[in-house]
Amino acid sequence: MERIYINGGNRLHGKVEISGAKNAAVALIPAALLADDVVELENVPHIADISSMVSVLKDLGVSIHYLDEHTLRIDSRGLVNRPADSEGVRKMRASYYLLGVLLGRFGSADVVFPGGCNFGIRPIDLHLKGFESLGATVEAKDRIQVRAEHLHGANIFLDVVSVGATINIMLAAVLADGTTVISNAAKEPHVVDTANFLNSMGANISGAGTDRIVIRGVRRLHGTTYQIIPDQIEAGTYMVAAAITGGDITVRNIIPKHMDSISAKLLDMGAFIEEFDDAIRVCAPEPLKDTVIKTAPYPGFPTDMQPQFMTLMSVVRGTSIITENVWDNRFQYVTQLHKLGADISVDGRVAVVKGVDHLDGCEVEATDLRAGAAMVLAGLAARGTTVITNVKYISRGYEAMVQKLVQLGADIRLEGAAADPIIVEGRVG
Ligand code: UD1
Repeated sequence: MERIYINGGNRLHGKVEISGAKNAAVALIPAALLADDVVELENVPHIADISSMVSVLKDLGVSIHYLDEHTLRIDSRGLVNRPADSEGVRKMRASYYLLGVLLGRFGSADVVFPGGCNFGIRPIDLHLKGFESLGATVEAKDRIQVRAEHLHGANIFLDVVSVGATINIMLAAVLADGTTVISNAAKEPHVVDTANFLNSMGANISGAGTDRIVIRGVRRLHGTTYQIIPDQIEAGTYMVAAAITGGDITVRNIIPKHMDSISAKLLDMGAFIEEFDDAIRVCAPEPLKDTVIKTAPYPGFPTDMQPQFMTLMSVVRGTSIITENVWDNRFQYVTQLHKLGADISVDGRVAVVKGVDHLDGCEVEATDLRAGAAMVLAGLAARGTTVITNVKYISRGYEAMVQKLVQLGADIRLEGAAADPIIVEGRVG
């Protein structure tokens, strides 16, 4: 079994290159299938969720291969609309995007229920209601089957701000007849990236990044070359790594604006932040202090940074509070921080974190992707050795995390990992 070993206490310093955004990549790769053509996607992160997505697409007859380590060529001219029920589909939350894509391109889709990290009930009712508004019938038992004789534009109000529903409805609506308006839409950077990507394929989408997105249906989409945005959450995780180790790290290849809510909290806790055009430097020469965080849809504080900040709060002066407003049950990992000596009490959606003098290394488990990143941060700060199990969760969303941390001066190693090499086929013919 894979394990990460960390001897804590090193102050991290240096520069780290941030990879392409996982949550954008898992939307853009299936979105490429909307064109009966060839798409080249650059800045694709090398993470397990992408390997799963690639194998799912191959099962559907798509010709997909790497031109270089981070560029995927996707040729969907051979795409076949068969049921998507492979192991890869079951593993990933984002396989729900196949519903919108196949419905949009072929008028029907048959996909098993998506997997992904388990932090409470993760419904997709808003996706399905959106498809129904566009003229589809939906059957959802152990698998989801959607079908439409004629997809047409509609006015859709989302009861809850949902990233997945916003993107999925956009995917189904780009080739529909007429105009679709999504109100109370999500504004996350990867929603905007998906709209920009689809527009580069000939779609007509405006308003992405606001809470009202207008999609005017077009007859067909064409191939394109497009670069995926940098990963906001990966960047945020390394910013916390600087703060929690009293270090000095510059995260590079990022969009600083995407980091505003995260930078603001680090500043509030007493860290020093320096912003450049495509980089942010974080250093924490003095001990940090408590703060209050309420997670919210973008541009609010991202729920996907909540576990990393909980860990940081565990070792700063004073009492911090986190209110989790997006997911019902995203504090399961707190028991792991308790093992390391953190003083955290949870009551429903609220966690109260009393800073302790130090954490003591021990064996902990990555209970999900971001909780896994939080365990790594805890290990970097803890006295002695921390051993992290269930590393497969971390590999789902962080490219080369151990190597990047070694370059920043961490005493960290990964044992027992099977290599997942990228096979670069380059341009053939
Ligand atoms: C995406 C991210 C995930 C992040 C989350 C919130 C991907 C692949 N994953 O997940 O990392 O934590 O956004 O930023 O991009 N909801 C409903 N009905 C629905 C859909 C959602 O009630 O049909 C609720 C959810 O229970 C949750 C809230 O809406 O409380 C937000 O969920 P959503 O934004 O849809 O999350 P995902 O797109 O699944």
